[in-house]
Amino acid sequence: MTAAEPLLHLEGLRRWVRLPSGEDLHILRGVDLEVDAGDHVAIVGRSGSGKSTLLNLLGLIDRQSDGVLRFDGQDVHRLRDARRARLRGASIGFVFQQFNLLDGRTALENVMMPLLYGDARQFWHREKLAREMLDRVGLGGRADQVPARLSGGEQQRVAVARALVRRPRLILADEPTGALDVSTGEAVMALLDEIARDSDAALVTITHDLQVAALSQRAYLLDEGTLHDIGTLDAAGTAEARTALAATAGLRAGQEAVA
Ligand SMILES: Nc1ncnc2c1ncn2[C@@H]1O[C@H](COP(=O)(O)OP(=O)(O)O)[C@@H](O)[C@H]1O
Ligand SMILES: [Mg+2]
Repeated sequence: MTAAEPLLHLEGLRRWVRLPSGEDLHILRGVDLEVDAGDHVAIVGRSGSGKSTLLNLLGLIDRQSDGVLRFDGQDVHRLRDARRARLRGASIGFVFQQFNLLDGRTALENVMMPLLYGDARQFWHREKLAREMLDRVGLGGRADQVPARLSGGEQQRVAVARALVRRPRLILADEPTGALDVSTGEAVMALLDEIARDSDAALVTITHDLQVAALSQRAYLLDEGTLHDIGTLDAAGTAEARTALAATAGLRAGQEAVA
């Protein structure tokens, strides 16, 4: 028997974009990464280092310029857009910094939304499944509230429920605590981590916050278009990573000053 394929396999992944000047901007310059079911991986990097670009590739929203990205053993670059969209809907959940909830809809309606595109069972049981998820994130009693009536932390918990209601195998979180105060952010991260663990989903969290990254099993620094393993961020590791982040930020500032 061969070893099971990791859920995500990235090899030499590159992404560049053609600028109006005709030059190519190389954002990712060869990213290698493997993520297994149940893994919780954090990716840190200064602003502009390409974190969202990488997340959009992992989320099958964008396509790489070169290199390999396999999801569950499947070379997703070969899939047509409609297949990619189906795979994304069924297997990947997104949590964003700004929650991205629909304003005019209740918490329950927001969480039910992805189930409209689910399989027949998910579709027919959408209200029950959405209520169960809202219970799971501790908001069973607020199902009929619109986002404007909820606090930031509660809105992010609704967004977590919406991301997880189809039981994705991969959860992608882009600065999920960026709009929250520290203790609310910690509670949201703990919840995400717990729910991901329950369902053996992989969680990839992108953050500039090393305290958030320290909650993961493994952390990487994205710098100069490649990933650098910074291990497990215990207190010592966090200090080291902080120095590394500060150093790359300093280097950049220096380069920009020269440019
Ligand atoms: N489609 C694009 N066209 C031009 N520049 C882009 C494009 N996408 C991203 N960039 C640039 O690439 C860099 C990385 O962007 P991004 O992935 O959003 O970084 P991060 O999320 O780490 O802040 C930034 O300098 C950004 O301006
Ligand atoms: Mg970003």
